[in-house]
Amino acid sequence: MSKKVKDSHTVMTQLILPNDTNHLGNLMGGVMMRWMDIVCALSGMRHCNGPVVTAAVDHISFNEPIALGSMITLECFVTRAFKTSLEVYVEVFSESFSGVKTKCNEAFFTFVALDEETKKPVKVPAVIPESERELQLYESALRRRELRLIMSGRIDPKDADSLKMLFS
Ligand SMILES: CC(C)(COP(=O)(O)OP(=O)(O)OC[C@H]1O[C@@H](n2cnc3c(N)ncnc32)[C@H](O)[C@@H]1OP(=O)(O)O)[C@@H](O)C(=O)NCCC(=O)NCCS
Repeated sequence: MSKKVKDSHTVMTQLILPNDTNHLGNLMGGVMMRWMDIVCALSGMRHCNGPVVTAAVDHISFNEPIALGSMITLECFVTRAFKTSLEVYVEVFSESFSGVKTKCNEAFFTFVALDEETKKPVKVPAVIPESERELQLYESALRRRELRLIMSGRIDPKDADSLKMLFS
């Protein structure tokens, strides 16, 4: 079974309140990561029609501070699915009262789908990319997967087909 990228598109909107900020009055990184994890997990669950758990997070960046009182949106979708794991790309935008959006953060989350009863990894539906951007993220997902599996010691660099040039 396959599903389109747009089927997993998920958006979360948040207002930055005093409890969410650091001593400088800006959103704390850890609070942002929590929201990212939740919205990406929801996207993964939509794709798999079942529970997923976070296996890895990479390329997380904090490019712009987000001030107390800001309105932000976290937007994400599944870029590619493998056997039991899938990659979700998330972008975060702050939004002014006049509607101007500024990109503040992005990250890639990897989830593993679990069987509800056994809690063991289960096969996930494939992803059908449609737009140019979806296709570009789908193709580059293979390199990111190999890189994170090397970094976590799960595969040997010599077995990373799409990265051989970098490590040989
Ligand atoms: C994620 C987890 C289920 C993987 O279990 P495992 O016994 O290593 O399972 P497998 O070896 O069969 O790997 C399953 C998939 O996870 C992927 N995976 C495991 N660790 C990974 C990592 N660090 N980075 C990227 N992918 C990873 C594997 O590549 C495999 O993907 P594939 O089937 O698409 O090829 C297990 O490590 C776990 O339960 N971790 C805790 C998750 C958690 O509590 N998250 C926070 C709360 S949601």
